[in-house]
Amino acid sequence: MDARQLKVEAARAALAHVTDGMRLGIGTGSTAEEFVRLLAEKVANGLTIIGVPTSERTAILCGELGVPLSTLEETPELDLTVDGADEIDPALTLIKGGGGALLREKIVAAASARMIVIADRSKMVETLGRFPLPIEVNPFGLRATEIAVAAAAGKLGLSGPVTLRMTGGQPFVTDGGHFILDASFGRIPDTRALSNALHAIPGVVEHGLFIGLASAAIIAGDGVQTVHAA
Ligand code: A5P
Repeated sequence: MDARQLKVEAARAALAHVTDGMRLGIGTGSTAEEFVRLLAEKVANGLTIIGVPTSERTAILCGELGVPLSTLEETPELDLTVDGADEIDPALTLIKGGGGALLREKIVAAASARMIVIADRSKMVETLGRFPLPIEVNPFGLRATEIAVAAAAGKLGLSGPVTLRMTGGQPFVTDGGHFILDASFGRIPDTRALSNALHAIPGVVEHGLFIGLASAAIIAGDGVQTVHAA
């Protein structure tokens, strides 16, 4: 099975958790897009859900495929969010934000009673950090924030390049109008300590460590495996 098929299999398994009347957070990224396509088929066949998208990109896809949408303002309490991840550890702590949607993804996940992560097995790691950690920052004082991020990481024994995400020669701008720093710290043994240290920096809007948010991960590899949060 190729990588895309694995994403489809994980998405299909997640769809089994979606029932009539659900208020559904809808994730961002290539795996979440497979979920949207399958969800749209079910909606066309009569499933009634209301979706809250985690990005403009996802909202556009849902619109094109006829998935009914609300906003988190209108629908502030969700039953389930289904989203991808860049890395998943055995405790279901995640790195997210490879697609730049981490802030809305985290707000939506936190507003959901449950979050199911869908991924192919390449996303499972023993310790997070092979994937650079996305950190969403306010453009104001960017350089000062970069220095503060490096200093905070250094106090935890973490170091490595912290680079501004670029696209087409310009800084990548998130749906919220912020920039992204990608921090290549390598292994992050204490995610909670790094999370707290980053949150203490005023220019940091949010970071891509999702701690205690995922209820289950559906991993496609040799078959589909569901890992539950402890
Ligand atoms: C978007 O900001 C991310 O958090 C995605 O959920 C994550 O990057 C996974 O994307 P893929 O499914 O494309 O790997």
